[in-house]
Amino acid sequence: MKKRFTVTSALPYANGPLHIGHLAGAYLPADIFVRYQKNKGNDVAFICGSDEHGAAITLQAKKNKTTPKKIIDKFHNLNKKTFSDFGIDFDFFHRTSEESHHKTAQDFFLKLNENNAFKILTTKQYFDKQENQFLADRYIEGTCPKCGYEHAYGDQCENCGTALSPNELINPKSKISGNSPVLRDTTHWFLDMQKHEKWLKEWINEGVINEKKKHNSKDWKSQVISQCNSWIDNGLNERAMTRDLDWGVKLPIKNTDGKVLYVWLDAPIGYISSTKAWAKENNKNWKDYWMNDETELIHFIGKDNIVFHCIIFPILLKIHGNYILPKNVPSNEFLNLEGRKISTSKNWAIWLHEFQKDFKDKQDSLRYYLCAISPEKKDSDFTWKDFQNRNNNELVDIYANFINRVIVLTNKYYDGIVPKISDLQSIDKDILKETEKSIELVGYYIEKFEFKKSLTSFMNISRLGNKYLTETEPWKLIKNDETRVKTIMNISIKVVAALSVISEPFLPFSSFQLREIIDMKNNCSWDFNISKIINEGHKIGTPKHLFSRINDEEIDKVIMKMEDEKK
Ligand code: MF3
Ligand code: ZN
Repeated sequence: MKKRFTVTSALPYANGPLHIGHLAGAYLPADIFVRYQKNKGNDVAFICGSDEHGAAITLQAKKNKTTPKKIIDKFHNLNKKTFSDFGIDFDFFHRTSEESHHKTAQDFFLKLNENNAFKILTTKQYFDKQENQFLADRYIEGTCPKCGYEHAYGDQCENCGTALSPNELINPKSKISGNSPVLRDTTHWFLDMQKHEKWLKEWINEGVINEKKKHNSKDWKSQVISQCNSWIDNGLNERAMTRDLDWGVKLPIKNTDGKVLYVWLDAPIGYISSTKAWAKENNKNWKDYWMNDETELIHFIGKDNIVFHCIIFPILLKIHGNYILPKNVPSNEFLNLEGRKISTSKNWAIWLHEFQKDFKDKQDSLRYYLCAISPEKKDSDFTWKDFQNRNNNELVDIYANFINRVIVLTNKYYDGIVPKISDLQSIDKDILKETEKSIELVGYYIEKFEFKKSLTSFMNISRLGNKYLTETEPWKLIKNDETRVKTIMNISIKVVAALSVISEPFLPFSSFQLREIIDMKNNCSWDFNISKIINEGHKIGTPKHLFSRINDEEIDKVIMKMEDEKK
């Protein structure tokens, strides 16, 4: 039976370019998963877009003396292009500044309001007298009460990950004027989260809501479950879902000028409005992807987004009614860079659009390396040297080498025409069987969101292929045992053909190149029968290098560039 998936990747803020940490965290794993599921013939909507509201963007506009609109236009377009340059193949990349999103978010809010989601409370909030405005959480900086970090934001400490509210900060300062803010009365719509503790706990830990099994909690990553539990155990408080700001989705209620929806209410609804926009263009029914119990909703995110996707958004979806809740939230840990935490403000990052210039046509190499070191269960470290080594020793020496040997020999001995099998021996049967087994594992691990293990199984195939050639030595046999060579080459080409299909989730660019080389452009379904994947008499093309070496000068150059940043 075919399955249906709605797969989302965290909407990136449109106030800066994307770096390797973004790719490794929420986009590459999602893309691998989606390409795999689509190749299996499943129905997938892969949804994303730009997150264009939020205080960070208005703050940046103020600092740079420009407008939010100018910032989001620039980065929406840049990021959209970056995703496509790196083969992150969203079905739709929307933006939360679109009218259609505003409408969806407002309707959603009204429905929540109708269902008594909110308490309307007047509380004291920080106000910057000099700027004459209330300060959104992100406009306030202070010392984290948990870990003592001095630049914690009003809503979250980026150092220890604790969610905060502004009045918990020690020694708060306005980020706009630098002054100490004063407290003033303002009215907001608060989500009463306490009411939801009980079912949330059951749903997260047992996968059950109202005695109905919704997911298998064993499939969830343990660090996701434990982060949720520690949140819930600390007590869920009421949380304001509106803000005093002039940038965002206007609160759809009379006499509330100057109030907008909280960005963490607005942005996740962006998944829904993006799906709607996609459905409209593609003649689909968006409700199939959000309101059908059979559909599996999967959110790919980084660990700083866990509470929003596992607690707040599910509460909102449930109160609204009719919506499905996520089947899994395979959140990743963080990727470090050369032993240090990636920091956009300190420019300690590898920006994808710059990588693109430094390493033209090496997107698959980066995808490969980021998958190989994917921070699935704990933080991991990107180093340029390791990147170079993995590219040279694995992609070039093992993967591309095997494929190249097979294509070269087939051209040399048989003018590129797939020869006929005439004496199948056990060593030939074994390699086909081993390949099939590895292919199965590749899929098995993708379905379990264990992309590193999946990649290992994938690479195992070309390791086996090289071993097969080394053991059978067709270049020696060609002098006196032509029949045998025909069989060996036929079998080897089958393995190459299989690689051209199953490499796609990891290495989409070279996968398409390979399919072109062996003239298998139309065949890309995962459920092939390896003994029939390519027939005798089929003509393949001539060899072309799928991956090339990265030399020391190239790597030293980028390392030097980084060293300059450290100073
Ligand atoms: N823009 C947020 C971030 O980068 C993520 C938003 S995810 C969404 O952390 F669910 F709100 F869309
Ligand atoms: Zn802290």
